[in-house]
Amino acid sequence: MNIVIPAINAYLSSLVAESPLLKQVGIEGVKLDLPIIDSAVGRLLETLVLVTGAQRVLEIGTANGYSALWLAQSLPHDGRLISIELDPARAQIARGHFDEAGISNRANVMVGDAARLVHKVSGPFDVIFNDGDKRQYLQLLDRLVTLLRPGGVLVTDNVLWDGEVVPGLVTSPQRPADETEAIARYNKQLAADSRLVTSFLPIRDGISISVRKYSS
Ligand SMILES: C[S@@+](CC[C@H](N)C(=O)[O-])C[C@H]1O[C@@H](n2cnc3c(N)ncnc32)[C@H](O)[C@@H]1O
Repeated sequence: MNIVIPAINAYLSSLVAESPLLKQVGIEGVKLDLPIIDSAVGRLLETLVLVTGAQRVLEIGTANGYSALWLAQSLPHDGRLISIELDPARAQIARGHFDEAGISNRANVMVGDAARLVHKVSGPFDVIFNDGDKRQYLQLLDRLVTLLRPGGVLVTDNVLWDGEVVPGLVTSPQRPADETEAIARYNKQLAADSRLVTSFLPIRDGISISVRKYSS
């Protein structure tokens, strides 16, 4: 089920000018059947990097590096993006794209399970993009909030999951039930987390934006 009318999605994406490399990496992601974000969400990530004055960004789930390129392209030259990816072949493809973009000095991929690697990185981060295994979302939440600086932003993808997290909305669910359940539990926890102020946005597959409070 499309939670946004496809023509509106296409219109929103048409308003975003992508570099030739971003366009190519986006097309590659679709060809490889990778569940990557679209250019409208990419532009939102870039906006959040700029609005927070981000120097340090963490991503969970690199795939072929499409969202990482969006996160890194407006980082200052001494900024740093760390992206975590389980699949070494995907990590290698993403590294190639970081080379092509000339950002290898500030964008790195760590290969392995995010559940382990989030304890190997040290914060604080200004922006964190959570887009790995949906069943891990809840497990990672506390650590990701700890890694975020006050005023920093945690962005999570797929929080509406084709509308399947909405009780009773989808009569013939297509998504794996355990992942739907995991996202629904994550959304509740995220909304209730007193360290954060969270907004849920119905764009693409649903995006949440959580700002870490200064007083938590
Ligand atoms: C939705 S895709 C990421 C898409 C990417 N953020 C983009 O929009 O361009 C999720 C990625 O998370 C990776 N992944 C799955 N389980 C993981 C885990 N336990 N630790 C780290 N990465 C994982 C998958 O291999 C996949 O490439």
